[in-house]
Amino acid sequence: MSTDALPTYAEKLIRGRRAVRAFRPDPVPDETLRTIFSLAGAAPSNSNTQPWQVEVVSGPARDRLSDALLTAHAEGAISTDFPYRDDLYTGVHAQRRRKAGATMYGALGICRDDQEARAAYDAESLRFYGAPHVALLFLPPNAEARMAADVGMYGQNLLLALAAYGIASCPQGLLSFYADAVRESLGVRDRKLLFGVSFGYGDPSARVNHICNPRAELAETTRFHS
Ligand SMILES: Cc1cc2nc3c(=O)[nH]c(=O)nc-3n(C[C@H](O)[C@H](O)[C@H](O)COP(=O)(O)O)c2cc1C
Repeated sequence: MSTDALPTYAEKLIRGRRAVRAFRPDPVPDETLRTIFSLAGAAPSNSNTQPWQVEVVSGPARDRLSDALLTAHAEGAISTDFPYRDDLYTGVHAQRRRKAGATMYGALGICRDDQEARAAYDAESLRFYGAPHVALLFLPPNAEARMAADVGMYGQNLLLALAAYGIASCPQGLLSFYADAVRESLGVRDRKLLFGVSFGYGDPSARVNHICNPRAELAETTRFHS
């Protein structure tokens, strides 16, 4: 590819990536997985510390993990390494969050007050929306916000590398609500769970895979000083 084509390609790749929430069961070939996770690891980090520890889960291990998550969910056994509160988002951030939720549940045909349908959809999330693979992104036991920033860099690299290979993904903070269950299922000790990424080949026939979450105008988030 000529260097002239790179900006167009970057624009397509970055703007074309979407969170996908319905997958086909076909697995991604092992060699492609290794290439993609190696690309994700090219992310920058504070002093090149590369604090991410990633568990890529497929096949029977994926099914066991999903079962463990569903059990923890049914028991209400929530355990978060990075605390979450309902009032975490306020003002415009709360507005954007509500809008994204309304768009997603609208595409799924789930009414705002239909708690039963919402609970069923949460369970579907813990089945990774049918994706054949899920990656869990961990940090060292002493991790704080600075290290989480590094893992955020890794996460976006991962999503874009997947997209470049035609593989769809959904980052899932929900998986980190059951950190103890994830650690136990994967035999991970001590490390802190930030979020998971379900991935595989998307199901283009699912309406939920065609939603579009618009972004704020540039001026709302960015100031240029000179
Ligand atoms: C760290 C992180 C956690 C997320 N957690 C969830 C989640 O638990 N469930 C979900 O359906 N989407 C989740 N998402 C996806 C966002 O809802 C989605 O990225 C956002 O609405 C923008 O849509 P887009 O990715 O399609 O552009 C998460 C995204 C990020 C970056």
